[in-house]
Amino acid sequence: MCGIIGYRGSRDATAVVLEGLKKLEYRGYDSFGVASLAVNKLVVFKQVGAISDFGYADMPLTRTNLAVGHTRWATHGAVTTANAHPQLSNDGKIAVLHNGIIDNWEALRQLLVHEGFTFSSGTDTEVIPNLIQLYISKGYAFHDAMRTTLQHLHGSYAVIVLHEDFDEIAFAKVGSPLLVGRGDNEFFIASDLSAFAKYTTNVVVLPDFHYGFITSNVSLFSLDSESRVEIPYQTIAVDVDEEEDPAIQQYMLKEIMEQPRVLLRAIDQSKDRFELLAEIIRKSQKVFFTGCGTSFHAGLAASYFFASVAKINCTPFLSSETGKLVEFFDDKSVLIALSQSGETADVLDAVKLAKNRGAVVIALVNVQGTTLPLLADHTLYLRAGVERCVLSTKTFTAQLGLLYLLAHTVAGNFSLAHTILNQLAASIQEVLITQAAVIRQVAEKTYNNSDYFIIGRDFASACAVEGALKIKEVSYIHAEGFAGGELKHGTLALVRESIPTVVLVTPDTRTRILSNAMEVKSRKGCIIGVDSLPNSVFDYFIQIPHVSEGLSLLLCIPLQLLAYNLAILRGCDPDKPRNLAKSVTVQ
Ligand code: M6R
Repeated sequence: MCGIIGYRGSRDATAVVLEGLKKLEYRGYDSFGVASLAVNKLVVFKQVGAISDFGYADMPLTRTNLAVGHTRWATHGAVTTANAHPQLSNDGKIAVLHNGIIDNWEALRQLLVHEGFTFSSGTDTEVIPNLIQLYISKGYAFHDAMRTTLQHLHGSYAVIVLHEDFDEIAFAKVGSPLLVGRGDNEFFIASDLSAFAKYTTNVVVLPDFHYGFITSNVSLFSLDSESRVEIPYQTIAVDVDEEEDPAIQQYMLKEIMEQPRVLLRAIDQSKDRFELLAEIIRKSQKVFFTGCGTSFHAGLAASYFFASVAKINCTPFLSSETGKLVEFFDDKSVLIALSQSGETADVLDAVKLAKNRGAVVIALVNVQGTTLPLLADHTLYLRAGVERCVLSTKTFTAQLGLLYLLAHTVAGNFSLAHTILNQLAASIQEVLITQAAVIRQVAEKTYNNSDYFIIGRDFASACAVEGALKIKEVSYIHAEGFAGGELKHGTLALVRESIPTVVLVTPDTRTRILSNAMEVKSRKGCIIGVDSLPNSVFDYFIQIPHVSEGLSLLLCIPLQLLAYNLAILRGCDPDKPRNLAKSVTVQ
């Protein structure tokens, strides 16, 4: 959460930073700030709101060769201009931009107050520039003051620091992502590659507990040993469609519509790669899936088809709930970690715990150059291209496709699954085209409701949970997805006249899920059936093609479209839901 970028070179640094911030906006968009340095003068501009609503001309900034920027997702301190970054030192000479949380900020703040410092924000970040100022006032050189300050910070951070008297960018990383990019006599630093990929993809992915300085070159240091380190640059391949199209107004719809192509590209990877991973899984004694939000739901759905196809009983768990499961990880375990961003803090923590216990970690990740592949033993990339909308849609389909292929590879059926997935891409396309009008009509009839329920059985119950997440996060309608059998164990009490319930029907579960639908109908609830066959219990019918296998890939498609339409009808921004950010780098 929060995106940071810095640039030093011969281009207009302010323009590079503003452009980069717009790319990073998915990480947080409640406020932003830019600082530029020219002739030993720090110029700062901060604003509440999303950077995409502002242009260069709206800001009192000029061309310089060194600038930094921040787009915020508030953790400590309300969404105000004072709390936006950069945060400045009391003498106004030091500017800090921060992604992460400083756990011991209150103790540090007290220490600084004791030293005579005052604070003008509610952020944890403001202690950093003031600590640096404190050490400089005690005679430390800037670099030493930076290192000493870092040694006092507990928590997670990616920070960029400017000091008015020095033509350089200082930076550090513990637990939040940071990459340094090298161009021709120019350097970039950002939370992720998308911020500057247009200029260079030659990068150093900074490991934790490292800091450094960008001058006319880059110097890197280990925070532990305090010694200089050399980390080789690597060139990261950027997917073909990663460039932003300025004509696109709503990425959610674009990304939903891309899914047939995304699925085909996800599975267009070497069979040997899947065979290698399948062999690791076959040899293991325990298989776990972990992730957060939609990525967890992909693991949940996959646990059903790993059971039915590969005959393996897997344990899906929320990364934030790793807790007591830790003791079950050992060197006979495989942990399949799912993350679009590759930076979700809870996922990284679960992976570290599993690795410490000797488990093999297989990561399924979309964004290249991120932390999860660095921690994992093996990585399968989703190859879904940049997902800009905060809601995960196309990456969910890519995750399901890859896990479906992996389950079949474990069972010795890679080629069969590949063929099925190719057909499924066409079926997804069919749903997107033929059902758009019906789904829009359903949304028009139901968007005023306060509640939405979604039920399914077997893997469709996982799709129900995912569909409910889509609806609530983008339309703000309270939505619950769960296994149909659970209805009469509680939620039925909430069903009343006209409250919509989406019923996800599969051939194997048809009889029982339709009887759950009847339970709702008997209480005058409104039934929206998602099925390949019509049924008299349905008030609305969203038809999906009849497929013999891989149905889980189809079931969420209408729910994504439904969520999108509900959001539009309710006047919600489909790409930037309130209070959320795409990359959740804090616990
Ligand atoms: O980047 P990740 O896949 O690790 O992100 C996990 C969740 O934060 C993410 O899926 C979130 O739930 C989305 N907003 C869902 O649409």
